[in-house]
Amino acid sequence: MRRGSNRVTHSTDFQAWAAAGQSRVEAVLLLLLPSPEIAPQRLHHAMRYAVLGGGKRVRPLLAFAAGELSGADPARAAIAGAAVEIIHAYSLVHDDLPCMDDDVLRRGKPTCHVEYDEPTALLVGDALQSLAFQVITENKLNDDANVQLQMAKLLAAASGSRGMAGGQAIDLAAVGKVLTVPELEFMHVHKTGAIIRAAALLGLMCGAPVSAAEHAQVDTFARLIGLAFQVVDDVLDVDASTADLGKTAGKDAEQGKPTYVSAMGLERAKAFAEDLRVEAMKSLDGFGERALRLRQLADFIVLRKF
Ligand code: IPE
Ligand code: IPE
Ligand code: MG
Ligand code: MG
Ligand code: MG
Repeated sequence: MRRGSNRVTHSTDFQAWAAAGQSRVEAVLLLLLPSPEIAPQRLHHAMRYAVLGGGKRVRPLLAFAAGELSGADPARAAIAGAAVEIIHAYSLVHDDLPCMDDDVLRRGKPTCHVEYDEPTALLVGDALQSLAFQVITENKLNDDANVQLQMAKLLAAASGSRGMAGGQAIDLAAVGKVLTVPELEFMHVHKTGAIIRAAALLGLMCGAPVSAAEHAQVDTFARLIGLAFQVVDDVLDVDASTADLGKTAGKDAEQGKPTYVSAMGLERAKAFAEDLRVEAMKSLDGFGERALRLRQLADFIVLRKF
């Protein structure tokens, strides 16, 4: 009985923490995005359409949570998290284009190219990517300029051909093929895992230096949870409704995308995500209460229904 009520308190507390983090990053994004009154107005409108007012904001929440481990100023973690979220929003706009996944629904609204047009959506992605690097370089995120340089390099590597963009290339080349589980893992850690890992490490790097061992622990956690995130995305594509997801369910099978569900079946894919969650938790051993939010986020990422 007591354990049960503790759990409720815990989860309510997490929801309040997450809601506060989401509001905080929303406010930062609102300030960082160019005004829709400045030319070119239509592009600026579309950038705001793609970024504001939607999404779970998991990546900024990871930045806040990892920042708690290193005593980061939440204002700095919010900027780092916003930069990652801007890259993420760009990746979604391009992912939805007809030349990629050809999706019409995102975050419960028409996709950017449907609401605007394809050339605008292409440019929204380009402009958001540049904005993310402007944000991460022109705001002071660490007193040590060398650390901040490492942060910009980390975001660049996570976004580029050895990270998200590379993973997307693998995804497109894999349509209609059967991938082995190691091949799937390679695709997922690139297309989705890299940006999630960057979110956690950037939040951590906003604070005081941690030991190499602690940095490695957070890195391991972020890699595991980044892979788990895409495994769960694959699961939800077959196991959740369009209404709950805010994006069209059932698209992966329809488009012949190899996923963890197509490779191992729904139940084993769910079990694999759970294994990754347990492993990710182990990587936080020794942090105690400092890692509470990271643990709760791992639970959210694997147990979510949307
Ligand atoms: C969807 O990401 C795309 C993937 C990388 C799997 P999210 O599920 O984080 O999407 P939002 O930001 O909450 O809309
Ligand atoms: C997208 O993976 C990964 C990105 C880099 C955007 P998906 O194509 O599975 O994402 P959804 O399901 O459209 O959100
Ligand atoms: Mg895709
Ligand atoms: Mg897609
Ligand atoms: Mg998907």
